[in-house]
This record gives sequence, structure tokens and C-alpha cells, in this order.
Amino acid sequence: MREINLAYTEVGTGPAIVLLHGYPFDRSMWREQIDFLSANGFRAIAPDLRGLGEMSDKLQFVAAADHHEAKRQAEAYRTITSMEDMARDVAALMDELRIDHATICGLSMGGYVAFEFVDLFPTRVKALVLAGTRAPADNEQERQAREQQVDQMLAKGMNGIAEASLPKLLAPRTHAEKPEVVALVREMILRADPHGAAAAQRGMAARRDYSDDLAGIEVPTLVIVGRDDPIRPVADAEFMHARIPGSRLEIIEDAAHMTNMEQPSVFNQALLGFLGLEVES
Ligand code: MLT
Repeated sequence: MREINLAYTEVGTGPAIVLLHGYPFDRSMWREQIDFLSANGFRAIAPDLRGLGEMSDKLQFVAAADHHEAKRQAEAYRTITSMEDMARDVAALMDELRIDHATICGLSMGGYVAFEFVDLFPTRVKALVLAGTRAPADNEQERQAREQQVDQMLAKGMNGIAEASLPKLLAPRTHAEKPEVVALVREMILRADPHGAAAAQRGMAARRDYSDDLAGIEVPTLVIVGRDDPIRPVADAEFMHARIPGSRLEIIEDAAHMTNMEQPSVFNQALLGFLGLEVES
């Protein structure tokens, strides 16, 4: 039973590409890709993943007639959103839009969701784009750091998280030359619902190790990474590229974690080159 209807943007006609945002962001991070892909013959779909973006106030519980069950679901949602939950939400959205299969493109947390999606619904994936993400699970120290961040955001909101993470999310050149991108990323973090973000953060801490899945990925795959990304560095991308058969690797200069916002033209061209070869042929 799916309890949630995703808020989403859908523009264009043609082969479908589903864009999955990172944490604690929302679908607005894909604006440049939505415009570009839809202008280039693709149907771009970008949902707000469960608990983030507009989704924070769009909860719909089909069991709402049963007050206790609705409450239980609401509490569960507040606690943890697994990467699998998010992948199943995406599949439900594709059902609703009558999209049988699509290219799945995920950045960072969106990449974890993409890993779950291709595992759960392999026949619905035409191609895969994995940007700024990694296959291994968290170690104990990383899990604890996530739990501390959850405590911080639930107690004090997103402000501290935004200021602490901006230096790592964006490359020095973006900070120096693209204040509008810095502002967009800051605003996205500040408007995230701390409860939804906390649930996603716990879901990431609990995610499984996807390393053993890599050799079994049979769809064309593009791995993208920012040269200056300290969060998911080039070595993480090389790890995936080395194990996913036939995958391509694109390293984007003067970009850190938010490659698609920092260097949208380079990101878009890489995407188009890949999609043109793999999806349209
Ligand atoms: C993201 O951008 O989605 C996060 O950095 C992912 C993570 O914390 O593992």
C-alpha cells in the first residue's frame, strides 16, 4: 500500500528521464536539467522525495479513515524513510504517469534511491546516471555523525546544517563566482522540513552496501563526479565505474557535490551525449 503521492515536475515529451534529488534538497535543484532535457526531446520528471520539498506538507495517508493506523504511519514516517521507500514511491509515480521504463538519474541520496530502484525494478530502468554518490554503506562513525545531525536539526532547525555544509557542497570557484547558485542551495536547505530531513538522514544511515550490486547492473550507466567534491570524491566514482560493466565516467571540473547546479552546461552536455547514444538509439 503506497500512502504517499509525490509532488513532481514533468516537462517535455519523448523518452522519460526521472531526476532524483539529493539530501536535504528538493526537485528545484534540477531546474536547469528539466529545461534542457525537455528542449532536447526528452520527458523530464523530477519528484520531491518523501518528506522533502513540497512533500513535507503533502502527506496523504490512505488509511486515514482509521485514526490509529494513520497516526502509526505518520510516526513511522517521522522516524525513518528508507531508500527503498523512496524507490517504491518513484515506481508508484511512474505507474501514475504511465511510464513503463525510464532513465533514472540520481544525485547523492538520489543515487542511493537509484540503486534501490534498479535492484527492485530492473526492467523499468533503461539507463542509469549516478552523480556524486557512492556504493558502500556508512561506517559506524558516519552513522553517528548522521544521528548527531538529526538531533541538531530537530532541536535547532536547518540553519546550522546549511552553514556547515555549504563549504563542502560547492567548489571554491562556485563560492567565488556564482553567488546565485550558493543562494539557491542555501535556500533549499533552509526550507527543508527538519522532520522529513531527519527521516531521510536516518534512512541513509540504515542503507545497505550497494557494492555487490554493481557488477550486476546491466543497463548503460553514466557516473558523474565533481573534481572538487569532498563529500563523494572522485575515488567513489572510480570505484563504481570500475565495477559497473561498460559504464562511462565524467569528471566535472570546478564543481564539488552539486555538479548539475555548479556546471549545468557541462552536466547537461554529458547527459545528452550519454542519452543520445544509449537511449535514443
Ligand atoms: C546528499 O547530497 O544527498 C548527501 O550528501 C548524501 C549523504 O549524506 O550520503
